[in-house]
Amino acid sequence: MSNEQTFIAVKPDGVQRGLVGDIISRFEKRGYKLVALKLVSPSKEHLEKHYEDLSSKPFFNGLVTYMLSGPIVAMVWEGRDAVKTGRTILGATNPLASAPGTIRGDYAIDVGRNVCHGSDAVESAKKEIALWFKPEEVQSYKASQFDWIY
Ligand code: TYD
Repeated sequence: MSNEQTFIAVKPDGVQRGLVGDIISRFEKRGYKLVALKLVSPSKEHLEKHYEDLSSKPFFNGLVTYMLSGPIVAMVWEGRDAVKTGRTILGATNPLASAPGTIRGDYAIDVGRNVCHGSDAVESAKKEIALWFKPEEVQSYKASQFDWIY
């Protein structure tokens, strides 16, 4: 089994709308392994760092304010092609362009309230995992169902 890892987060709207269990379940059922998880209220500086590549965008301040509006569920999921397939499970950035069956395509209609985050490349996944988790918070364990899935 590939141990590619991706950073997935349930944004404040997803937490407050009670979508955490559903989002976790979709990744579990697809065949990904949960290796890190926490409910956090990150600082403004942390969120500005997370979205630093978008700092010149007109929506940047609104994005940070939205992300500060409540706790976030931060996770690391592991498995074959986790980054790319994680983005497929989430759907397109703009929920109106997301297919039904994706998280955003099922639960969102506004790009500024799109429920979840997922790393967009293996390199950004590494950076994001290091920003959100200490190395000892990311677990390594055997899950027997993966003998079938992989
Ligand atoms: P981006 O990194 O482009 O998308 P993704 O989250 O799919 O990797 O943008 C980060 C977030 O910024 C996006 O999830 C929602 C928000 N956003 C807006 O509010 N307005 C916009 O026009 C765009 C492109 C993004």
